Parts: sequence; structure tokens; C-alpha cells
Amino acid sequence: MKEKIEALQKRFEAELQEAKNSEMVEKLRVAYLGKKGSVTELLKGLKDVSAEQKKEMGQHINLLKKQVEDSIAHQVEKIKSAEQELLIASAEQYDVTLPVQEAEGSYHPITIVQRQLEEVFASMGFTIEDYREIVTDYQCFEAVNIPKDHPARDMQDTFWLDNGQLLKTHTSAAQNAIMKKYGAPLRAVFPGRCFRNEATDASHENTFFQMEGMMIDKNISISNLIYFMKTMLSEVFEREVDVRLRPGFFPFVEPGFELDISCLICGGEGCPTCKHSGWVELCPCGMIHPNVLREGGIDPEEYTGFAFGLGLTRLVMMKYGVKDIRDLNSGNLKALSQFKHE
Ligand code: DAH
Repeated sequence: MKEKIEALQKRFEAELQEAKNSEMVEKLRVAYLGKKGSVTELLKGLKDVSAEQKKEMGQHINLLKKQVEDSIAHQVEKIKSAEQELLIASAEQYDVTLPVQEAEGSYHPITIVQRQLEEVFASMGFTIEDYREIVTDYQCFEAVNIPKDHPARDMQDTFWLDNGQLLKTHTSAAQNAIMKKYGAPLRAVFPGRCFRNEATDASHENTFFQMEGMMIDKNISISNLIYFMKTMLSEVFEREVDVRLRPGFFPFVEPGFELDISCLICGGEGCPTCKHSGWVELCPCGMIHPNVLREGGIDPEEYTGFAFGLGLTRLVMMKYGVKDIRDLNSGNLKALSQFKHE
């Protein structure tokens, strides 16, 4: 039996030399220490050995078992660190200064639709404005007719900063600055990223995009508002869309509306997307409140105007049939690459 043990030890050492990756080492472990492994079998064989030999052989086998266990553990460590070194070495070979060869990027669907809208509005004489993301209480609320204790503040869960400023909850936060910049008459759209302290799910995000628009001139009426909205939406969806207005409350407009479009999925017949009503809510809007005009330095006796706050993110979801809003901020290249040729 002693020879058997020694032979096994030799064989193990030879085989261990050959085990160059974790998989091979694992196979070796099973072959020697597994339920039917060679060392296990040796231990089982002890029952046929004479009583006086049992003790000595038992010690030999257990010693072998311990050696096999230790050598395997050592080998596993060795392989792991070699694999890690290889990883580090190959990372070093990654040269970020090399020119990109076959990588083909794509625009984000929100960028695509935003640019398309900017083009439509530019063709109708609107300027495109940019605005910051950190704003003051005045810009976001007070200047648009939402004073400190107004209940409308509850509709927008706000991220406040330690210095009293906030992440803008809507693009309406730029209205005042833009009126002050250009005065009347004015035609401007201003897209932007907005933030609200929302619990996220398939249709809610804490970060989303809107596009705000304002048109201020003499004798601007609700029919101008309807005309511009209908033209813009028909361009975006590349077909004639019907719109309807329902009353809606927003402190910065009077009267205020919810603008619905005829459901593009069912053509107005009624389906799950439009909750069987034939209409989908898309764009709140209204005639700019005199207080807002006055605060922006424009005389409400002389000028009137309309404003709208288009949910850009919502529009993109409708246009491309995106079911989960979180996909849009995920940075998932697989999702984005679908827009490569847009
Ligand atoms: N700022 C509003 C919001 O995010 C949307 C809005 C409604 C903007 C009506 C407007 C408007 O300009 O006229 O909830």
C-alpha cells in the first residue's frame, strides 16, 4: 500500500504541473479529493488493511491528503494572480490616443427630436435659447406667479441645494430671464433638462427633458397657440395630427390648458395606450398670465402671448414607442444604437 501512496503522490505532482487554469485545477481536485477521488478511495481501502498497518497507512494517506489540498489551494492562488496580471497588462496596452476606427456613434433619441423641433420652430421665426440647470427660487417659482406659500409648489417635488438654490423643476424657470433678455415681441423656445424628486418607475424619472416655448406680440390669441402646436406636432410625427384643448391649471397661464393629440397608435379609435379615449395628453400650455409678463418687464396691456411646456421625454417615448422611461437615461448602447441612422 505504501508504494501505491507514493505512486499517487508522484502522479499528483506531475498532473499539478500541467494544471494551468482554474478549470483544470478543479478537475484535479475532484479526481483526487472528490467522493470517488483517488485519495478518498485509498482511505476507503484502509478497511482491508491489517490492524497494525492501519495506523501507519492512515497517517500516510492523511498526510498525502493534506499535501494535495494545500498544493491545490496554492495553485488556485497562483492562477488567480496570473490572470489578474494578464488583465492589468492587457489594460495597459489599451491606447486611448489611437484614432477611432470602426466605432459608429449615434445621437440620443432626445437629441434627435430636440433638434427636429428646433428646426421646425426656427423655420417659424423662433430663437433657440439655452438655460442653466441650477436656478433660484425666484426664477423657478416666484417669477412665474408661484409665490412662496402657493400650493402649486406641491406639484413639483424639488431638489433644493444647501445654498437655497435648486435644480430646475421645469423649463418655465427660464421664462423670466428670456423676457428680460429680448423684451416684446418675442418668439423663443428653450429646451432643457429638468429634475424632480420622484420615485422612479416605467413612466417616472427624476431627470427628464422639456421644451418650453413663448410667443409674445400684439393680439396673440388662443388660435395662434393651436396653430403653432398643430403645425409643430404634425412635423414631428410626420403626419397630420388632431389636437384638442382641455382646461388645466398652471399659475403662469390664464387660461391654462392641457393639449391632447389624437392617439397615433389607434388613430383615435381607442386603444390601451390612450386608455380607450382616442386622445393622449402631450403638452400643457396657455395664455401667459399678466403677472408673468409684468415680472418679465413686458406690459400686459399692450402685449399678450402664449406659452407651452412640451414634455420632450414623453414625446420621444410616443414617437419611438419606448415603454420604459428609464431606458432613456440608462446609457445603454444597445438601445441607443437603434437610432444610428436617424
Ligand atoms: N411648467 C409646467 C410643468 O412642468 C408645464 C407648463 C404648463 C409650461 C403650461 C407652460 C405652460 O409654459 O403654459 O408642469
